[in-house]
Amino acid sequence: MCYNYRMKSYIVGNWKMNFSVGESSVYLHKLQQKTRAYRSIEVVVAPSFTALQPLSLQLDRKKIRLAAQAGNPHDFGAYTGGVSYTQLRGLVDYGIIGHSERRQLFHESDKDIRASVAAALRNQITPILCIGETETEHTFGETEDVLRDQLLGGLSEVSTEDITKVIIAYEPVWAISTTTDSRLASPDEIARTVKFLRHILSDTYSASVAEEIPILYGGSVNPSNAGAYLTVPGINGLLIGGASLIGDQFIDIIETAKKVQS
Ligand code: 13P
Repeated sequence: MCYNYRMKSYIVGNWKMNFSVGESSVYLHKLQQKTRAYRSIEVVVAPSFTALQPLSLQLDRKKIRLAAQAGNPHDFGAYTGGVSYTQLRGLVDYGIIGHSERRQLFHESDKDIRASVAAALRNQITPILCIGETETEHTFGETEDVLRDQLLGGLSEVSTEDITKVIIAYEPVWAISTTTDSRLASPDEIARTVKFLRHILSDTYSASVAEEIPILYGGSVNPSNAGAYLTVPGINGLLIGGASLIGDQFIDIIETAKKVQS
């Protein structure tokens, strides 16, 4: 099996806690000027909450879609500082859920994550469910157990009808924001992991569900390694942090995605 031609490729930029509202707007303006609209590639950017509304007004939806970086699973109520998927409805098409930084730094539990996946779907927002093992779990050979728990835990409130509306992003925590090549995940390693994830999806749901759910890879993706990651069997796109903050690099990765499809 090579690249899945039936499926779109997703290039998602997670800006994390970077860019002011003004900088976000200038970045989006330039990105839209320089990128072409490809039907086979879904380009998504995830700015901070404060930038979502202004960016939604300047968005060329044929080229770019918006994602939230997180959300509160409750619809409304006394959750100071929270932003719910109900409030995000209509503003974003995607929601990044369960990112390792949210799990580790904001103590989001499996319960919060599965409730967020359900809340996003209930509000017509496509969840991008992030899963990934830490360095210690990787070293101690616990990767498969951790990923199985995070995957099935995150999906446990999703109906069989909605299951193919979910996107999975595999981001090994040890490969995020690395500066040395030795810490990069190898395409072979990712291929084995993605095969394992699809096997779990097939066992739990069905073979067709396992084939239909897009799986993205994230972890120090840049213009030099994007082509190799995009051609990993079973991978349908990339979730990019650092390189998505540099317009030329992000555009380069979008163009690489187009090239590997042809
Ligand atoms: P980097 O691309 O900076 O490693 O970040 C990956 C990530 O966490 C995207 O969500």
